[in-house]
Amino acid sequence: MNTTALTPFAEDILHGLKSDEKHIPSKYFYDDNGSRIFMQIMKMPEYYPTGCEFEILTGQSGNILDSLNFEGPFNIVEFGSGDGMKTRQMLKTFLDRKANFTYIPIDISQEALNALEKNIKTALPDVKMQPKTGDYFDVLKSMADTKVPNLFLFMGGNIGNYLIDEAKDLLKKFNSGMKKGDMLLLGMDLRKNPKIIQKAYDDPHGITKAFNMNLLKRINTELDADANLDQFDFYSFYNPENGEVHTYLISLKKQQIHSNVLDTDFSFEKDELIWTELSKKFSLDEINKLAKSTGFQVVKNFMDCRHYFTDSLWIKQ
Ligand code: TRP
Repeated sequence: MNTTALTPFAEDILHGLKSDEKHIPSKYFYDDNGSRIFMQIMKMPEYYPTGCEFEILTGQSGNILDSLNFEGPFNIVEFGSGDGMKTRQMLKTFLDRKANFTYIPIDISQEALNALEKNIKTALPDVKMQPKTGDYFDVLKSMADTKVPNLFLFMGGNIGNYLIDEAKDLLKKFNSGMKKGDMLLLGMDLRKNPKIIQKAYDDPHGITKAFNMNLLKRINTELDADANLDQFDFYSFYNPENGEVHTYLISLKKQQIHSNVLDTDFSFEKDELIWTELSKKFSLDEINKLAKSTGFQVVKNFMDCRHYFTDSLWIKQ
């Protein structure tokens, strides 16, 4: 056995591919190559969520501002801000309306925060910004005694990628770091015609497939393994009864993959699945219940014109 410490990726792959029901955590989609492929996904006409949220924040940020119950200055605290393209729409409207706020993006990646800060400062030089590097909850704790009210942002439909119990845990933890009256704007993908959802996660261009195959490429390069990508396929399934998209890699034959880094073989049966993603779609009723069970109350849903997606505004009770 290799004596040097394993990376988190190596440990998670070891655990995930040795399990009876094989799985790979979806956070591993987003290495440099995967992030590039995901940008292509966001540009596909079939993948509606990005465009929907852009539409909401471009058209309704004024209404969002009107729905905040804050008097005087406030913070906008964003969890996982990405490149800030969508948030920028909101900040611009808030500035135009002379709102007095400080924008506090939180990310574990210092590099991502630097890029974001540059983007925002160039486009909106008047925004007061206090980026914070670190774990969401550590940063939340460090902000516990801020006097001004906070609007927290968790956008992009991220919450739908957590198992329901994990999503509840996460929202409860957000809640316990918030003051009564603080607000949360949560991006959530809505239930709709199943065919529309199915196409968003299984496009005819093969981009979604490439995004999933990139996980095997990472295993090959980072764990010095010999997976033959031609011997795997991609499958995605939307279940309209529970609102869940599940995506998988499929082994096309009985085979083994050897990793030199892990010094082990992974065995696959023909047609065996590796689960790669959960993407949950919500009804408005489910959103109300989720808010109540985690210590919030829904104030208002801001939806795109087709009602495909909501930025749901919640208040801490
Ligand atoms: N978090 C994104 C989502 O749930 C990720 C994603 C988009 C994705 N398309 C995909 C994951 C296809 C797996 C397969 O919408």
